[in-house]
Amino acid sequence: MRKKVSIIGAGMTGSTTAHWLAERELADIVLVDIVEGMPQGKALDLQEAMPVIGKDVTVTGANDYEPTADSDIVVITAGLPRKPGMSRDDLLATNAEIVGKVAEETIKRSPNAIYIVLTNPLDVMTYLTWKKTGLPANKVMGQAGILDSARMRAFVAMELGVSVENINCYVLGGHGDSMVPLTRHSNVAGVPLNKILPPDRLEAIVERTRKGGGEIVSLLKTGSAFYAPAAGIAQMVEAILKDKHLIVPAAVYMQGEYGLNDIYFGAPAQLGASGVEKVIEYELNEEEMAALKKSAEGVAANIAKLNL
Ligand code: NAI
Ligand code: 2OP
Repeated sequence: MRKKVSIIGAGMTGSTTAHWLAERELADIVLVDIVEGMPQGKALDLQEAMPVIGKDVTVTGANDYEPTADSDIVVITAGLPRKPGMSRDDLLATNAEIVGKVAEETIKRSPNAIYIVLTNPLDVMTYLTWKKTGLPANKVMGQAGILDSARMRAFVAMELGVSVENINCYVLGGHGDSMVPLTRHSNVAGVPLNKILPPDRLEAIVERTRKGGGEIVSLLKTGSAFYAPAAGIAQMVEAILKDKHLIVPAAVYMQGEYGLNDIYFGAPAQLGASGVEKVIEYELNEEEMAALKKSAEGVAANIAKLNL
């Protein structure tokens, strides 16, 4: 029997995630949204593309949660995206109400699912999902780090004219403008970035990475990025369904790692069939630790606002 992935929120990121998943023939997909007809229409359209690309998955659209029953993975993208001038944190109250309800409705029907959250502010919404589902922390995670690191990889590739496959970048911390791109640990075919790029170019790439989400929002005018975030979710889904033990940056529950406790926060994590198998700790210098701490303080302050 094929695996089942339910995506709640069939907007830009949700439907693009469905597209990436179907293209890789990873699972049957259920798209749920409150907009009448929209998830059904997108699902049918995607289903009708399957003969063309030769993939056997079913794609179902719904406005209720019944078709999500017994999902292996639940992806939450429901909520508002940013408008130009808004920060991710401006979405907190509205999206907390939406995500809280989604978590309650889905866990009733899929008590064994693993959750991947995308809705912003990401680290806080992932924490909320963990609380609302009552799942063990390793079964709930958020997507942001793959996206932030991919942005940095893309900028390095553009700068150096090297294949993206040779570029490894690691962006840790909360998914906000105080995220922490680690330049000493990032490398091009094993050579650390700070040995290849002059300091001013490296700093420009770090800054562009931090503001990468905002750059897309200002260009699009309505909505935010969707191709790269959805590709990030698909990579996490694949790592779980194929039990790959893949290490990617993700928002995971911190239990002492990097000196942090009781928050969801971006760190390298190994993903497999049980969810988050372990959190990897890099050796960080004082400056890197201070930047992480600052980012964590912002996430913790927003978690506190939820009064959970
Ligand atoms: P979108 O507006 O295109 O789609 C969101 C969908 O959620 C809409 O179709 C809306 O009808 C639906 N929705 C709202 N309330 C719902 C409910 N109660 N139940 C089911 N569906 C509901 O937005 P987009 O671009 O897909 O972004 C979704 C969220 O993901 C935003 O909060 C955005 O900021 C965040 N995001 C996070 C990223 C990350 O790396 N963590 C990257 C990109 C987006
Ligand atoms: C991004 O970084 C909107 O958080 C989203 O593109």
